[in-house]
Amino acid sequence: MSQKTIRILGIESSCDETAAAIVEDGRRIVSDFISTQIDIHKQYGGVFPEVASRQHVLAVYPVIDEVMNKAHMSYSDIDAIAVTRGPGLAGSLVVGMNAAKGLSLATGLPLIGINHLEGHIYSSWVYSDRDETIPPEPEFPAIVLLVSGGHSEVILLKDHLQYERLGGTLDDAAGEAFDKTARLLGLEYPGGPSIQKAGANGDPDAYRFNVAKMPGTYDFSFSGVKTSVLRTVQKIQKDGELLRVADLAASFQKSVVSILFEKAIHAAREYNAKNIVIAGGVSANKCLRDTFLEQKEFKVFIPKLSYCTDNGAMIGAAGYRRFLTGKFDGLDMDVLPNWPLSRI
Ligand code: KG4
Ligand code: ZN
Repeated sequence: MSQKTIRILGIESSCDETAAAIVEDGRRIVSDFISTQIDIHKQYGGVFPEVASRQHVLAVYPVIDEVMNKAHMSYSDIDAIAVTRGPGLAGSLVVGMNAAKGLSLATGLPLIGINHLEGHIYSSWVYSDRDETIPPEPEFPAIVLLVSGGHSEVILLKDHLQYERLGGTLDDAAGEAFDKTARLLGLEYPGGPSIQKAGANGDPDAYRFNVAKMPGTYDFSFSGVKTSVLRTVQKIQKDGELLRVADLAASFQKSVVSILFEKAIHAAREYNAKNIVIAGGVSANKCLRDTFLEQKEFKVFIPKLSYCTDNGAMIGAAGYRRFLTGKFDGLDMDVLPNWPLSRI
């Protein structure tokens, strides 16, 4: 007899995307939808928290309805509702949380609060029917390089939901470094895609930007590299030379990717990892993807581009793993804007 399929409705609203998805057995995306606010926040050069919350309020129920309709499902086909509990912007998290609670109350479905970082990790498990074959899933132990707009961490993933944090950024996250550097180069928000685009035909060896090595640790520090770019820009302007944005962007990108690559490979060797799993918005970066995929020592899992940045499928996938533990959350669950991954 085949086992019953478990379907989780995942809801995400931690930053500037309102997203939902229905995921089967932690892997197959039945339907998903992402409503992004990027065009609204572009004019502010970053995410404007109050505006973000208001947009989530407008989008959350239509986005959920969309995934239910696309899947031709009713709530009786769903087994639980998983929602991002943190980390993220408090006002944004509350909107997804309240929507999830409302649905749980109305339908009687159990509620599961998900750590957003755990969600990013589980992006490497999902696939859709557009994939030609069902892709393999990562094996344990795996080294996770989690690089988003708010976090940069090296994690040992011992088994499902079993994390050991090996190190992380002491100041700016990798995505934040892209965003801040883009701004000082006059490129639009979000900085990661802008830098990638601007640097596509640039010379990555044109400039040397120092990234702190933090030897003997799995820690990072990215605040210096931004200052290093700033100093170079100021010197170019003082000397009346032409600002070669393409070369600056490509050189910056190479410096950041090199250090992320070095630390992840080092950790994978030290912990005899079977795989490297890359997660978070910066995993969309072409230079980073190519750098990891060119090496053949470790099998590397990187989500499909549409699941690198925030999405509902990753919350549904992580929700499934939590569902299997049988531990659910009550309607008194509150958001945790600073929730670290290591609480588990
Ligand atoms: O995971 P995410 O969508 O949101 C957070 O949880 O923070 O990550 C957003 C971050 C932003 O800093 C953005 O600039 C960066 O991911 N990002 C990229 C690229 N696409 C998004 N960074 C580098 N290259 C990209 N192609
Ligand atoms: Zn994220």
